[in-house]
Amino acid sequence: MKIDILTLFPEMFLGPLNHSILKKAQEKGVIKINYINIRDFTTDRHHTTDDKPFGGGAGMVMKAEPVIRAYESIPKTKAYTVMLSPQGRKFNQNLAWELSQKEHLILICGHYEGIDDRVRQLIVDEEISIGDYVLTGGEIAAIVIVDAVVRLVPGVLGDEASLVEESFTNRLLEYPQYTRPRNFQGLEVPEILLSGNHKKIDLWRKKESLLTTFFRRRDLLKKRGLTKEEKILLWQ
Ligand code: ADE
Repeated sequence: MKIDILTLFPEMFLGPLNHSILKKAQEKGVIKINYINIRDFTTDRHHTTDDKPFGGGAGMVMKAEPVIRAYESIPKTKAYTVMLSPQGRKFNQNLAWELSQKEHLILICGHYEGIDDRVRQLIVDEEISIGDYVLTGGEIAAIVIVDAVVRLVPGVLGDEASLVEESFTNRLLEYPQYTRPRNFQGLEVPEILLSGNHKKIDLWRKKESLLTTFFRRRDLLKKRGLTKEEKILLWQ
């Protein structure tokens, strides 16, 4: 998968997207991330990227021309172009799965009071919001999206099975995990996990997932529904 990120602040990405799993995925060549500095596509002496809004009002608006020129510099055939904005479709795990199927993503990060709307009209396939709050710009939202999407790309996680079990995929929250030592500050690891009985362990984990989801996120259970076996397991 190829990801091109259009931004005024490419340095914001270099820490977050260059560690651990994301670093390895890039080293393996499974994903390739390019940063395109919108300021490099200005044509005036002062490298102006923003201007006062037509109609008045507070703040500055990002000019359309440098963004479009930056976009046009990207070699592309089947790219899907996303603009990060609080007006967009709310990001969730299903949307992460959708985006992980794309061969080429272009992410446009706005700053200030947003981008001249003609950018959206001309080149954007979809606007995405990471939640109902306003960030200072799209960069942190883009980092969240890249992180969630890239780990779903085949070949990025060592153990693809770990994707099946996890939160929101089958819409249950995760069961608690433990590792050594068996006793930590007086707290014991649940006995069942030391039993070696994998059938019992699977049932215990399923019940923990059901209980956590029931008490913390009943909305997820309502959407998903429960099988007869799950109802018995939850209430026994
Ligand atoms: N830009 C500013 N706020 C945002 C949000 N919540 N999601 C995506 N992009 C944004």
